[in-house]
Amino acid sequence: MEPRPDFTMDQPIASYTPTDHATWRTLFEHQAALLPGRACEEFMLGLKGLGVAADGIPDFNRLSDILGKATGWSIVAVPGLVPDEVFFGHLANRRFPVTWWIRKPEQMDYLQEPDVFHDIYGHVPLLMNPVFADYMQAYGEGGVKAQRLGEITHLARLYWYTVEFGLIRDAGGRGLRIYGSGILSSKSESIHCLDSAAPNRIGFDLLRVMRTRYRIDTFQKTYFVIDSFDQLFAATRPDFRPFYERLHGAPDLGAGEVAAGDTVLVRGTGEGWGHTDDA
Ligand code: PHE
Ligand code: CO
Repeated sequence: MEPRPDFTMDQPIASYTPTDHATWRTLFEHQAALLPGRACEEFMLGLKGLGVAADGIPDFNRLSDILGKATGWSIVAVPGLVPDEVFFGHLANRRFPVTWWIRKPEQMDYLQEPDVFHDIYGHVPLLMNPVFADYMQAYGEGGVKAQRLGEITHLARLYWYTVEFGLIRDAGGRGLRIYGSGILSSKSESIHCLDSAAPNRIGFDLLRVMRTRYRIDTFQKTYFVIDSFDQLFAATRPDFRPFYERLHGAPDLGAGEVAAGDTVLVRGTGEGWGHTDDA
């Protein structure tokens, strides 16, 4: 099935095999058992509201109807990662591109590219939350602008350390919780990010995050922690142009580095990182 010029296509529902649906069920049931008490309440609520069933890979149109009523977002099927400008354009119009295919049974945990489990289970529940939904649209608009300014590298780090790998302080004072989709869809990282002594947990700071390189091939060495989605949205609301200017005088930080001025919640031991890290 050929994608359209905006890279969207119809979800090829009939092409999913029984193995594909079984893979979804296995991943879903595992995370459903693991995430209560680890994922933030906003995610748990969104998941419930969507009724993303454990039965099998869901129908995107059905999810879009529910999501549309809640926050005006829809989901569109795509063949995989799409070019940056296409991605930003979809987000700016409150459309979330979802990879339609599912991983092979031998890739049950870590996958370096998104599949339907990561995109639906990891990303879509939080789009049911009005503040997060607005943040994602603003990010898309910011992406269009960053591309004109040649600032994609800085802006992409913000997405990585919030949308994909963010932690949030639980409002009820019960410690840290997960909101990043790359963690929520990974059975080992959803344990590692909260329980391991190795990674740093550092308070969210916009410019600090945009200076920090990241790894796509291992667990994160640093997680940035927000207090609330309101805080995240407020911090990212200003025009980024002056921030980008300032970042030009500031050197990048390695993924595992702790810097002067950091609010260090947990200083990681770095155990098991080896010598090839970029930090
Ligand atoms: N305020 C940002 C800008 O001017 C846009 C943005 C919003 C970027 C939210 C990321 C997240 O570029
Ligand atoms: Co993702």
